Amino acid sequence: MTDAKDWWRSAVIYQVYIRSFADGTGTGVGDIRGLRSRLPYLRELGVDALWITPWYPSPMLDGGYDVADYRDIAREFGTLADAEQLISDAHRHGMRIIIDIVPNHTSDRHVWFQAALEAGPGSPERARYVFRPGRGDDGSLPPNNWQSTFGGPAWTRVTEADGQPGEWYLHLFDSSQPDLEWGNAEVREEFLDILRFWFDRGVDGMRIDVAHGMIKHPELPDLPATDGGELLEPPREGDHPYWDRDDVHEIYRDWRTVADSYDPPRVFVAEAWVDSPYRLAQYVRPGGLHTAFNFDYLRAPWSAAELRKTIDHTLEVFGTVHAPATWVLSNHDVERHVTRYGREQTAALAGSNRPDELGEADEALGTRRARAAILLKLALPGSAYIYQGEELGLPEVLDLPEHALQDPIWKRSGYTKRGRDGCRVPLPWTRYGPSYGFGVDGSWLPQPADWGARSVQAQQDDPASMLALYREALRLRRDFRALGEGQLSWLPDSGAAVLAFERRPGFACVVNLGDRPAELPAHSRVQLTSVPLDDGMLPPDAAAWLAT
Ligand code: NOJ
Repeated sequence: MTDAKDWWRSAVIYQVYIRSFADGTGTGVGDIRGLRSRLPYLRELGVDALWITPWYPSPMLDGGYDVADYRDIAREFGTLADAEQLISDAHRHGMRIIIDIVPNHTSDRHVWFQAALEAGPGSPERARYVFRPGRGDDGSLPPNNWQSTFGGPAWTRVTEADGQPGEWYLHLFDSSQPDLEWGNAEVREEFLDILRFWFDRGVDGMRIDVAHGMIKHPELPDLPATDGGELLEPPREGDHPYWDRDDVHEIYRDWRTVADSYDPPRVFVAEAWVDSPYRLAQYVRPGGLHTAFNFDYLRAPWSAAELRKTIDHTLEVFGTVHAPATWVLSNHDVERHVTRYGREQTAALAGSNRPDELGEADEALGTRRARAAILLKLALPGSAYIYQGEELGLPEVLDLPEHALQDPIWKRSGYTKRGRDGCRVPLPWTRYGPSYGFGVDGSWLPQPADWGARSVQAQQDDPASMLALYREALRLRRDFRALGEGQLSWLPDSGAAVLAFERRPGFACVVNLGDRPAELPAHSRVQLTSVPLDDGMLPPDAAAWLAT
């Protein structure tokens, strides 16, 4: 593990969706023991840090993003002692640990919410959440017209102690995820204490869930409706009633003070779905958070012009606040990019649009582009994220049986949107065996029949595999001094179909997004290509790394 205080400015961070990574206890659900047993694999892959999705006690109605207790570990994942062991094992292997914190909402099973239900209207217990009387004569209409991100109204009415229908509470996500009231000092204090709880245990950083959502307009105004009756989204310039409001940054200044009080300082990465790189950069100004996921890059289509625009804009805007850029192509909320890049429409859509609305995916094409995309991503200045299974080239599983779907989006959309389970299918480790080595028994989501052929075992000795490409690219990234943080200069050959840039000293990356072979810069030595060169030329949908 490098000692550099600024490790996060150029780190490659591997996202562990813990329920689907490795099951060490035979329950069909991934866990800490499974993850510990696979640390050597991750070290060999060559990543600098792991981001582990929520591992707290939870009813798991939203995959653990419904936290019932922020200071413990879910029984199905292990114990607090297991977590501490994992943190020290990871450190021993030279990898840092980032965990997920969910401050916008708790689970409805959290003691605070249970107390709020019991204590009734006007109580300090209710003041920790967003409770309001309903509209209409009998209060039977929700307090405003806000909609849950997962579908349906963002409000649910409670039954009071006298058995009568009472107040409503706000939930921007599932009804089991009541939003906290961040205007309440007790809420702010509680989260500062939770940060310290985990930082004291050696956690190196936190990924902040819905980092743009905590502050609501004090008057909770209705959202304007379009002519068609749909609500207008998304946030613009800080005036949306609940997304990306300017006051949210005040919270992060306090969090930064806590993180900086540790040696080495702890770090943050924000999950903020905002409108522009400019708005995103507000989160990573000096004194605020360290980094933020760059979803504009994930949303960019597979087009040289669009990618270049996003890259330039990101580097420019983040440069003005001296923050490193981040690059991400997949996560547990969006369709896996092998599938996305095999479609006509290659831009990622947030959430859960049903694949049948998106058209056919050509997996061979998507895989070729994904091979080029990892070389591009790892050559850009800043820090990069890898979503588990991406290194195996896993596609989205599009045909999960309906009875297996667990994402709350499926139910809340009235069974019209399948949700995000297709990118969360447990990993295949071995060619054969129950759950392909994920565990000793089944897996909580069914794995496709061809999962064994995509497993780590099937790929690890194959130099042409996706896994081999990731390993080699990560190894070279460490060797090339020019990679990681720093400057990028576009080469004159960069144009409408080709992205070509230099990182000084001594490195160039060329990506061909056109439909005919492209020339490589003269006087360069080929270090790595995503597919074999064709007569010295770079084929379409391919990338090359060069020593210059
Ligand atoms: C973002 C998380 O990534 C997603 O999985 C979750 O459903 C929502 N936040 C709500 O917590």
